[in-house]
Amino acid sequence: MNLLLIGSGGREHAIAWKLAQNPKVNTIYCAPGNGGTSRENKCKNVNITEMDELVKFAKENSIDLTVVGPEEPLTKGIVNIFKENGLRIFGPSKEGAILEGSKAFSKEFMKKYGVKTAEYEVFSDENKALEYIDGREFPLVIKADGLAAGKGVIICNTLEEGRAAIEELMTSDNFKEAGKTIVVEEFLEGVEASILSITDGETIIPFISAKDHKQILDDNKGPNTGGMGVICPNPYVNDDIMKIFEKDIMNPTLNGIKKEKMDFVGIIFFGLMITKRGVYLLEYNVRMGDPETQGVLSLMKSDLLELIEKALEKDLKNAEVQWENKSACVVIGASLGYPGSYEKNKEISIGDIGESKVFMAGVKDEGNRLLTSGGRVLALVSKAETLDLARKMCYNNIQNVKFENIYYRRDIGIAK
Ligand code: AMP
Ligand code: GLY
Repeated sequence: MNLLLIGSGGREHAIAWKLAQNPKVNTIYCAPGNGGTSRENKCKNVNITEMDELVKFAKENSIDLTVVGPEEPLTKGIVNIFKENGLRIFGPSKEGAILEGSKAFSKEFMKKYGVKTAEYEVFSDENKALEYIDGREFPLVIKADGLAAGKGVIICNTLEEGRAAIEELMTSDNFKEAGKTIVVEEFLEGVEASILSITDGETIIPFISAKDHKQILDDNKGPNTGGMGVICPNPYVNDDIMKIFEKDIMNPTLNGIKKEKMDFVGIIFFGLMITKRGVYLLEYNVRMGDPETQGVLSLMKSDLLELIEKALEKDLKNAEVQWENKSACVVIGASLGYPGSYEKNKEISIGDIGESKVFMAGVKDEGNRLLTSGGRVLALVSKAETLDLARKMCYNNIQNVKFENIYYRRDIGIAK
Protein backbone atom coordinates (compact mmCIF):
# COMPACT_ATOMS: atom_id res chain seq x y z
CA MET A 1 0.00 0.00 0.00
CA ASN A 2 1.02 3.58 -0.61
CA LEU A 3 -0.11 6.05 2.02
CA LEU A 4 -0.36 9.81 2.13
CA LEU A 5 0.06 11.41 5.55
CA ILE A 6 -0.87 15.06 5.93
CA GLY A 7 0.93 17.28 8.44
CA SER A 8 4.39 18.32 9.55
CA GLY A 9 4.59 17.98 13.34
CA GLY A 10 6.06 15.54 15.83
CA ARG A 11 2.68 13.85 15.88
CA GLU A 12 2.95 13.10 12.18
CA HIS A 13 6.48 11.74 12.56
CA ALA A 14 5.15 9.35 15.21
CA ILE A 15 2.17 8.34 13.05
CA ALA A 16 4.47 7.73 10.07
CA TRP A 17 6.86 5.63 12.18
CA LYS A 18 3.96 3.53 13.47
CA LEU A 19 2.24 3.08 10.09
CA ALA A 20 5.57 2.05 8.52
CA GLN A 21 5.64 -1.01 10.79
CA ASN A 22 2.83 -2.65 8.84
CA PRO A 23 4.41 -5.02 6.28
CA LYS A 24 1.76 -4.13 3.67
CA VAL A 25 3.03 -0.56 3.57
CA ASN A 26 5.29 0.31 0.70
CA THR A 27 5.73 4.11 0.78
CA ILE A 28 4.35 6.79 3.08
CA TYR A 29 4.31 10.19 1.40
CA CYS A 30 4.41 12.90 4.06
CA ALA A 31 2.87 16.16 2.94
CA PRO A 32 4.79 18.23 3.74
CA GLY A 33 6.48 16.18 6.51
CA ASN A 34 9.55 17.41 8.39
CA GLY A 35 13.21 16.63 9.03
CA GLY A 36 12.18 13.46 10.87
CA THR A 37 9.82 11.94 8.30
CA SER A 38 12.41 12.66 5.58
CA ARG A 39 14.65 10.04 7.20
CA GLU A 40 12.04 7.64 8.58
CA ASN A 41 11.71 4.08 7.31
CA LYS A 42 9.53 3.91 4.12
CA CYS A 43 8.81 7.66 4.24
CA LYS A 44 9.24 10.35 1.59
CA ASN A 45 8.42 14.03 1.98
CA VAL A 46 6.39 15.79 -0.69
CA ASN A 47 6.20 19.53 -0.48
CA ILE A 48 2.49 20.11 -1.01
CA THR A 49 -0.19 21.49 1.30
CA GLU A 50 -3.03 22.84 -0.89
CA MET A 51 -6.17 20.74 -0.98
CA ASP A 52 -6.44 20.43 -4.78
CA GLU A 53 -2.76 19.52 -5.05
CA LEU A 54 -3.21 16.82 -2.42
CA VAL A 55 -6.17 15.34 -4.32
CA LYS A 56 -4.17 15.40 -7.55
CA PHE A 57 -1.17 13.80 -5.83
CA ALA A 58 -3.31 11.03 -4.33
CA LYS A 59 -4.81 10.23 -7.73
CA GLU A 60 -1.57 10.34 -9.66
CA ASN A 61 0.41 8.28 -7.17
CA SER A 62 -2.13 5.49 -6.58
CA ILE A 63 -2.50 6.38 -2.91
CA ASP A 64 -4.51 3.64 -1.19
CA LEU A 65 -5.22 5.60 1.96
CA THR A 66 -4.74 9.15 3.24
CA VAL A 67 -4.34 9.87 6.96
CA VAL A 68 -4.83 13.41 8.24
CA GLY A 69 -2.77 14.60 11.22
CA PRO A 70 -3.85 18.19 12.05
CA GLU A 71 -7.27 19.71 12.63
CA GLU A 72 -7.15 22.50 10.09
CA PRO A 73 -7.61 20.48 6.90
CA LEU A 74 -10.30 18.42 8.67
CA THR A 75 -12.36 21.49 9.60
CA LYS A 76 -11.91 22.74 6.02
CA GLY A 77 -13.48 19.54 4.70
CA ILE A 78 -10.53 17.61 3.29
CA VAL A 79 -12.33 14.35 4.02
CA ASN A 80 -15.44 15.45 2.11
CA ILE A 81 -13.32 16.51 -0.88
CA PHE A 82 -11.26 13.30 -0.97
CA LYS A 83 -14.42 11.20 -0.75
CA GLU A 84 -16.10 13.19 -3.53
CA ASN A 85 -13.05 12.28 -5.62
CA GLY A 86 -13.41 8.59 -4.77
CA LEU A 87 -10.32 8.58 -2.56
CA ARG A 88 -9.99 6.64 0.70
CA ILE A 89 -9.22 8.85 3.67
CA PHE A 90 -9.24 8.46 7.46
CA GLY A 91 -10.68 11.33 9.47
CA PRO A 92 -14.01 13.00 10.23
CA SER A 93 -15.89 14.94 7.58
CA LYS A 94 -16.36 18.69 7.98
CA GLU A 95 -19.67 18.00 9.73
CA GLY A 96 -17.83 15.98 12.40
CA ALA A 97 -14.72 18.16 12.61
CA ILE A 98 -16.86 21.06 13.82
CA LEU A 99 -16.70 19.38 17.24
CA GLU A 100 -13.22 20.89 17.39
CA GLY A 101 -13.70 23.75 14.91
CA SER A 102 -16.37 25.54 16.93
CA LYS A 103 -16.38 25.62 20.72
CA ALA A 104 -19.89 27.11 20.71
CA PHE A 105 -21.10 24.17 18.61
CA SER A 106 -19.31 21.59 20.72
CA LYS A 107 -20.66 23.03 23.99
CA GLU A 108 -24.22 22.98 22.58
CA PHE A 109 -23.61 19.39 21.46
CA MET A 110 -22.39 18.42 24.95
CA LYS A 111 -25.42 20.03 26.55
CA LYS A 112 -27.86 18.47 24.10
CA TYR A 113 -26.52 14.97 24.62
CA GLY A 114 -25.79 15.16 28.35
CA VAL A 115 -22.00 15.10 28.15
CA LYS A 116 -20.70 16.40 31.48
CA THR A 117 -19.06 19.78 30.95
CA ALA A 118 -18.57 23.19 32.63
CA GLU A 119 -21.52 25.62 32.73
CA TYR A 120 -21.24 28.21 29.97
CA GLU A 121 -22.82 30.98 27.90
CA VAL A 122 -22.15 31.90 24.26
CA PHE A 123 -21.91 35.52 23.05
CA SER A 124 -21.56 37.19 19.69
CA ASP A 125 -22.29 40.66 21.06
CA GLU A 126 -19.40 42.24 22.97
CA ASN A 127 -21.62 44.41 25.20
CA LYS A 128 -23.76 41.47 26.23
CA ALA A 129 -20.64 39.51 27.13
CA LEU A 130 -19.27 42.42 29.20
CA GLU A 131 -22.62 42.81 30.94
CA TYR A 132 -22.74 39.09 31.71
CA ILE A 133 -19.35 38.89 33.41
CA ASP A 134 -20.02 41.98 35.53
CA GLY A 135 -20.98 40.75 38.97
CA ARG A 136 -20.04 37.13 38.36
CA GLU A 137 -17.60 35.19 40.46
CA PHE A 138 -14.07 34.78 39.15
CA PRO A 139 -12.05 32.93 37.90
CA LEU A 140 -13.91 32.54 34.62
CA VAL A 141 -12.62 30.98 31.41
CA ILE A 142 -13.16 32.89 28.17
CA LYS A 143 -12.67 31.07 24.87
CA ALA A 144 -12.63 31.99 21.22
CA ASP A 145 -15.20 29.92 19.32
CA GLY A 146 -12.93 29.05 16.39
CA LEU A 147 -9.49 27.51 15.93
CA ALA A 148 -6.79 29.69 17.45
CA ALA A 149 -3.70 27.45 17.54
CA GLY A 150 -3.96 26.94 21.30
CA LYS A 151 -4.10 30.67 22.06
CA GLY A 152 -7.86 31.11 22.22
CA VAL A 153 -8.45 30.17 25.87
CA ILE A 154 -7.93 32.82 28.55
CA ILE A 155 -8.30 32.11 32.26
CA CYS A 156 -9.42 35.33 33.94
CA ASN A 157 -8.95 35.89 37.66
CA THR A 158 -10.59 39.32 37.91
CA LEU A 159 -13.28 41.37 36.19
CA GLU A 160 -10.54 43.53 34.62
CA GLU A 161 -8.88 40.47 33.12
CA GLY A 162 -12.27 39.28 31.90
CA ARG A 163 -12.99 42.59 30.17
CA ALA A 164 -9.54 42.60 28.58
CA ALA A 165 -9.99 39.01 27.38
CA ILE A 166 -13.36 39.75 25.77
CA GLU A 167 -11.92 42.77 24.01
CA GLU A 168 -8.82 40.87 22.88
CA LEU A 169 -10.77 37.88 21.55
CA MET A 170 -13.62 39.79 19.92
CA THR A 171 -11.89 42.82 18.44
CA SER A 172 -8.15 42.20 18.03
CA ASP A 173 -6.77 41.21 14.67
CA ASN A 174 -5.05 38.17 16.21
CA PHE A 175 -8.26 36.19 16.28
CA LYS A 176 -10.29 37.53 13.36
CA GLU A 177 -13.30 35.27 12.67
CA ALA A 178 -12.26 32.80 15.41
CA GLY A 179 -13.10 35.34 18.14
CA LYS A 180 -16.30 36.86 16.74
CA THR A 181 -18.17 34.44 18.95
CA ILE A 182 -16.92 33.56 22.42
CA VAL A 183 -17.75 31.05 25.13
CA VAL A 184 -17.67 32.19 28.77
CA GLU A 185 -17.26 29.19 31.01
CA GLU A 186 -17.15 28.17 34.64
CA PHE A 187 -13.60 27.55 35.88
CA LEU A 188 -12.93 23.95 36.88
CA GLU A 189 -10.26 22.93 39.30
CA GLY A 190 -8.57 19.56 39.02
CA VAL A 191 -6.06 17.56 37.02
CA GLU A 192 -6.22 17.23 33.27
CA ALA A 193 -6.14 14.06 31.24
CA SER A 194 -6.03 13.41 27.50
CA ILE A 195 -7.90 10.39 26.22
CA LEU A 196 -7.38 9.76 22.53
CA SER A 197 -9.72 7.27 20.92
CA ILE A 198 -10.63 5.79 17.57
CA THR A 199 -14.18 5.63 16.28
CA ASP A 200 -16.07 4.31 13.26
CA GLY A 201 -19.16 6.27 14.26
CA GLU A 202 -20.69 3.21 15.94
CA THR A 203 -18.05 2.17 18.46
CA ILE A 204 -15.45 4.24 20.28
CA ILE A 205 -12.30 2.52 21.53
CA PRO A 206 -10.37 4.65 24.02
CA PHE A 207 -6.57 4.54 23.86
CA ILE A 208 -4.25 4.46 26.85
CA SER A 209 -4.58 7.71 28.86
CA ALA A 210 -2.01 10.50 28.70
CA LYS A 211 -1.08 13.53 30.72
CA ASP A 212 0.09 16.60 28.85
CA HIS A 213 2.11 19.42 30.43
CA LYS A 214 0.87 22.52 28.65
CA GLN A 215 2.73 25.35 30.30
CA ILE A 216 6.21 26.41 29.27
CA LEU A 217 7.81 26.52 32.74
CA ASP A 218 8.31 24.01 35.54
CA ASP A 219 5.58 23.85 38.18
CA ASN A 220 3.02 24.57 35.45
CA LYS A 221 3.95 28.23 35.29
CA GLY A 222 4.14 30.65 32.40
CA PRO A 223 2.09 30.78 29.21
CA ASN A 224 0.40 27.80 27.60
CA THR A 225 2.08 26.00 24.71
CA GLY A 226 1.02 23.18 22.42
CA GLY A 227 2.39 20.80 25.08
CA MET A 228 5.88 20.45 26.58
CA GLY A 229 5.81 16.81 27.56
CA VAL A 230 3.60 13.82 28.21
CA ILE A 231 3.42 10.75 30.36
CA CYS A 232 1.34 7.69 29.57
CA PRO A 233 -0.61 6.23 31.17
CA ASN A 234 -1.87 9.21 33.15
CA PRO A 235 -1.35 8.33 36.85
CA TYR A 236 -4.64 10.06 37.75
CA VAL A 237 -6.71 7.92 35.39
CA ASN A 238 -7.49 4.67 37.16
CA ASP A 239 -10.17 2.11 36.26
CA ASP A 240 -12.82 3.98 38.24
CA ILE A 241 -12.10 7.25 36.41
CA MET A 242 -12.25 5.38 33.08
CA LYS A 243 -15.68 3.99 33.99
CA ILE A 244 -16.94 7.45 34.92
CA PHE A 245 -15.48 8.86 31.70
CA GLU A 246 -17.23 6.20 29.64
CA LYS A 247 -20.58 6.78 31.35
CA ASP A 248 -20.58 10.58 31.61
CA ILE A 249 -18.64 11.53 28.50
CA MET A 250 -17.79 8.85 25.96
CA ASN A 251 -21.13 7.07 25.65
CA PRO A 252 -23.24 10.27 25.46
CA THR A 253 -20.78 11.58 22.83
CA LEU A 254 -21.22 8.45 20.73
CA ASN A 255 -24.98 8.78 21.04
CA GLY A 256 -24.73 12.40 19.82
CA ILE A 257 -22.53 11.45 16.87
CA LYS A 258 -25.08 8.83 15.81
CA LYS A 259 -28.13 11.05 16.32
CA GLU A 260 -26.54 13.95 14.41
CA LYS A 261 -25.57 11.48 11.63
CA MET A 262 -22.06 12.90 11.59
CA ASP A 263 -20.53 9.86 9.88
CA PHE A 264 -17.51 10.25 12.11
CA VAL A 265 -14.71 7.85 11.23
CA GLY A 266 -11.49 9.02 12.80
CA ILE A 267 -9.85 10.04 16.01
CA ILE A 268 -11.67 11.72 18.88
CA PHE A 269 -9.51 13.17 21.60
CA PHE A 270 -11.26 14.00 24.86
CA GLY A 271 -9.61 16.76 26.90
CA LEU A 272 -10.73 16.02 30.45
CA MET A 273 -10.63 17.74 33.82
CA ILE A 274 -10.80 15.32 36.75
CA THR A 275 -12.34 17.25 39.66
CA LYS A 276 -13.74 16.48 43.08
CA ARG A 277 -17.22 16.79 41.51
CA GLY A 278 -16.51 14.25 38.79
CA VAL A 279 -14.94 14.05 35.35
CA TYR A 280 -15.68 16.95 32.99
CA LEU A 281 -15.07 17.34 29.28
CA LEU A 282 -13.16 20.54 28.50
CA GLU A 283 -13.00 20.01 24.76
CA TYR A 284 -13.07 17.63 21.84
CA ASN A 285 -10.25 17.42 19.35
CA VAL A 286 -10.86 15.52 16.15
CA ARG A 287 -7.27 14.39 15.68
CA MET A 288 -4.48 12.98 17.79
CA GLY A 289 -2.71 15.21 20.29
CA ASP A 290 0.81 16.51 19.99
CA PRO A 291 2.83 15.37 22.00
CA GLU A 292 0.30 12.79 23.30
CA THR A 293 0.66 10.76 20.10
CA GLN A 294 4.40 10.34 20.53
CA GLY A 295 3.79 8.64 23.90
CA VAL A 296 0.58 6.78 23.10
CA LEU A 297 1.79 5.22 19.83
CA SER A 298 5.07 4.23 21.49
CA LEU A 299 3.06 2.00 23.83
CA MET A 300 0.60 0.67 21.23
CA LYS A 301 1.27 -3.00 20.49
CA SER A 302 -1.54 -3.28 17.94
CA ASP A 303 -1.05 -2.36 14.32
CA LEU A 304 -2.30 1.18 13.68
CA LEU A 305 -3.00 0.65 10.00
CA GLU A 306 -5.12 -2.43 10.70
CA LEU A 307 -7.07 -0.45 13.27
CA ILE A 308 -7.67 2.40 10.83
CA GLU A 309 -8.83 -0.05 8.18
CA LYS A 310 -11.23 -1.65 10.65
CA ALA A 311 -12.64 1.80 11.42
CA LEU A 312 -13.09 2.53 7.69
CA GLU A 313 -14.93 -0.81 7.34
CA LYS A 314 -17.09 0.18 10.33
CA ASP A 315 -15.93 -2.92 12.11
CA LEU A 316 -14.39 -1.53 15.30
CA LYS A 317 -16.82 -3.51 17.44
CA ASN A 318 -14.70 -6.52 16.56
CA ALA A 319 -11.39 -4.79 17.23
CA GLU A 320 -9.24 -4.69 20.29
CA VAL A 321 -6.26 -2.46 20.97
CA GLN A 322 -3.30 -3.97 22.82
CA TRP A 323 -0.92 -1.91 24.92
CA GLU A 324 2.53 -2.56 26.34
CA ASN A 325 2.40 -2.88 30.09
CA LYS A 326 4.87 0.00 30.47
CA SER A 327 4.99 3.74 31.03
CA ALA A 328 6.20 6.27 28.51
CA CYS A 329 7.74 9.66 29.14
CA VAL A 330 7.96 12.28 26.39
CA VAL A 331 10.01 15.44 26.82
CA ILE A 332 9.88 18.21 24.22
CA GLY A 333 13.13 19.94 23.32
CA ALA A 334 12.10 23.46 22.30
CA SER A 335 13.81 26.58 21.00
CA LEU A 336 14.50 28.93 23.90
CA GLY A 337 11.95 31.75 23.72
CA TYR A 338 9.01 29.59 22.57
CA PRO A 339 6.00 30.19 22.77
CA GLY A 340 7.26 33.72 22.11
CA SER A 341 9.91 34.50 19.50
CA TYR A 342 12.99 32.32 19.10
CA GLU A 343 15.92 31.75 16.77
CA LYS A 344 15.95 29.11 14.03
CA ASN A 345 18.51 27.25 11.92
CA LYS A 346 20.46 25.72 14.80
CA GLU A 347 22.18 22.47 13.91
CA ILE A 348 20.85 19.43 15.79
CA SER A 349 23.08 16.59 16.90
CA ILE A 350 21.83 13.35 18.38
CA GLY A 351 24.32 11.32 20.38
CA ASP A 352 23.76 8.09 22.27
CA ILE A 353 20.12 7.96 23.34
CA GLY A 354 20.03 4.26 24.16
CA GLU A 355 16.63 2.74 23.43
CA SER A 356 14.84 6.08 23.39
CA LYS A 357 13.34 7.42 20.20
CA VAL A 358 13.39 10.99 18.88
CA PHE A 359 10.41 12.27 16.91
CA MET A 360 11.17 15.45 15.00
CA ALA A 361 8.80 18.41 14.81
CA GLY A 362 10.19 21.88 13.97
CA VAL A 363 13.11 20.43 12.05
CA LYS A 364 14.25 20.70 8.45
CA ASP A 365 16.53 18.31 6.65
CA GLU A 366 19.30 20.06 4.75
CA GLY A 367 20.77 16.90 3.26
CA ASN A 368 23.62 16.24 5.64
CA ARG A 369 22.38 18.44 8.50
CA LEU A 370 19.22 18.75 10.55
CA LEU A 371 18.36 22.34 11.48
CA THR A 372 15.77 23.73 13.88
CA SER A 373 12.83 25.42 12.16
CA GLY A 374 10.15 25.75 14.84
CA GLY A 375 9.34 26.33 18.49
CA ARG A 376 8.78 22.75 19.51
CA VAL A 377 11.77 21.13 17.84
CA LEU A 378 11.66 17.47 18.83
CA ALA A 379 10.30 14.95 21.31
CA LEU A 380 12.40 12.34 23.06
CA VAL A 381 10.40 9.29 24.16
CA SER A 382 11.51 6.64 26.65
CA LYS A 383 9.53 3.71 27.94
CA ALA A 384 10.16 1.48 30.92
CA GLU A 385 8.48 -0.79 33.47
CA THR A 386 7.68 2.19 35.70
CA LEU A 387 7.04 5.87 35.15
CA ASP A 388 9.97 6.72 37.38
CA LEU A 389 12.37 4.67 35.25
CA ALA A 390 10.95 6.06 32.00
CA ARG A 391 11.45 9.61 33.33
CA LYS A 392 15.03 8.89 34.35
CA MET A 393 15.86 7.39 30.96
CA CYS A 394 14.27 10.32 29.20
CA TYR A 395 16.18 12.96 31.15
CA ASN A 396 19.43 11.01 30.89
CA ASN A 397 19.18 10.60 27.16
CA ILE A 398 17.98 14.08 26.27
CA GLN A 399 21.31 15.41 27.51
CA ASN A 400 22.82 13.83 24.41
CA VAL A 401 20.43 15.67 22.11
CA LYS A 402 21.98 19.02 21.35
CA PHE A 403 21.27 22.27 19.58
CA GLU A 404 22.07 25.84 20.58
CA ASN A 405 19.56 27.19 23.12
CA ILE A 406 17.65 23.94 23.62
CA TYR A 407 15.05 24.35 26.34
CA TYR A 408 13.02 21.66 28.08
CA ARG A 409 11.02 21.33 31.25
CA ARG A 410 12.72 19.37 34.02
CA ASP A 411 9.56 18.19 35.75
CA ILE A 412 7.63 16.23 33.15
CA GLY A 413 5.95 13.40 35.00
CA ILE A 414 6.28 14.91 38.44
CA ALA A 415 4.37 18.18 37.99
CA LYS A 416 0.72 17.91 39.02
P1 AMP B 1 -9.28 23.89 25.68
O1 AMP B 1 -8.67 24.36 24.37
O2 AMP B 1 -10.72 24.18 25.81
O3 AMP B 1 -8.88 22.51 26.09
O4 AMP B 1 -8.52 24.77 26.77
C1 AMP B 1 -7.11 24.85 26.83
C2 AMP B 1 -6.66 24.73 28.26
O5 AMP B 1 -7.29 25.74 29.07
C3 AMP B 1 -7.07 23.41 28.92
O6 AMP B 1 -6.14 22.42 28.64
C4 AMP B 1 -7.11 23.81 30.39
O7 AMP B 1 -5.81 23.84 30.92
C5 AMP B 1 -7.63 25.21 30.34
N1 AMP B 1 -9.10 25.24 30.49
C6 AMP B 1 -10.03 25.20 29.51
N2 AMP B 1 -11.28 25.23 30.03
C7 AMP B 1 -11.15 25.29 31.37
C8 AMP B 1 -12.07 25.35 32.46
N3 AMP B 1 -13.38 25.37 32.27
N4 AMP B 1 -11.56 25.38 33.71
C9 AMP B 1 -10.22 25.38 33.93
N5 AMP B 1 -9.30 25.34 32.94
C10 AMP B 1 -9.75 25.29 31.67
N1 GLY C 1 -1.30 18.49 23.33
C1 GLY C 1 -2.59 19.02 23.19
C2 GLY C 1 -3.14 19.02 21.84
O1 GLY C 1 -2.61 18.40 20.93
O2 GLY C 1 -4.17 19.61 21.62
